[in-house]
Amino acid sequence: MTKIPVLTLDGPSGVGKGTICLLVAKKLGWHILDSGSLYRLLALSAGDEPDLDNVSQLADLARDMQIEYVTSGDALGIYLRGKNVSQAIRTEATGVLASKVAAIPEVRQALLDKQKAFARAPGLVADGRDMGTTVFPDAELKIFLTASAEERAKRRYKQLKDKGIDANLSQLTAELHERDERDSTRSASPLLAADDAIVIDTTNLSIEQVYVRVMQLVEQHFS
Ligand code: DC
Repeated sequence: MTKIPVLTLDGPSGVGKGTICLLVAKKLGWHILDSGSLYRLLALSAGDEPDLDNVSQLADLARDMQIEYVTSGDALGIYLRGKNVSQAIRTEATGVLASKVAAIPEVRQALLDKQKAFARAPGLVADGRDMGTTVFPDAELKIFLTASAEERAKRRYKQLKDKGIDANLSQLTAELHERDERDSTRSASPLLAADDAIVIDTTNLSIEQVYVRVMQLVEQHFS
């Protein structure tokens, strides 16, 4: 069986992985895995106040979610049980709950095969926290993007505002710190650069500069 080329892009919340992932995948004509959206979809499916101790119920829910990703032009539509939830999953409240359900090992295990199935020809750009360490440990190219928490909060603020979603910068910064802490310290697949990942600090870089750097690495590794 021919090996599918995989580029993993990991990093903390608000670092710009999603934007870079879309640009790179479009340029290469590859598929995209937005793994955070799976945890967000689970958070949405689980309702407002899920019982986080009922891990088997959450794992079953994760395994049985009926989801569909539909690309039309530059936009990616995300559907849950036939309903378009592309906007609904992007709220901060859903992100916070996603980070909580993502800390449960049984949930991560339940979503593993779903994530691996995204690797299809001609190639995959996978965005998340543990793409290079756990989901695609054999990826040819692993990139880990970082930026200061303050810079990431500003970026997330702008992103939400641009989408017409209400946001508050100081609350976002506080939530980001909290989410970083939970995502980095959990025992199951914490946010971590793989040993063989190339780390890019994007604090003082524009999206364009990050994109150029990533494409240089892609050319070195995949040609
Ligand atoms: O990238 P995002 O903000 O959409 O991710 C939402 C949450 O999901 C994030 O706080 C942590 C979790 N997540 C994860 O644990 N592992 C991934 N591969 C992707 C996201």
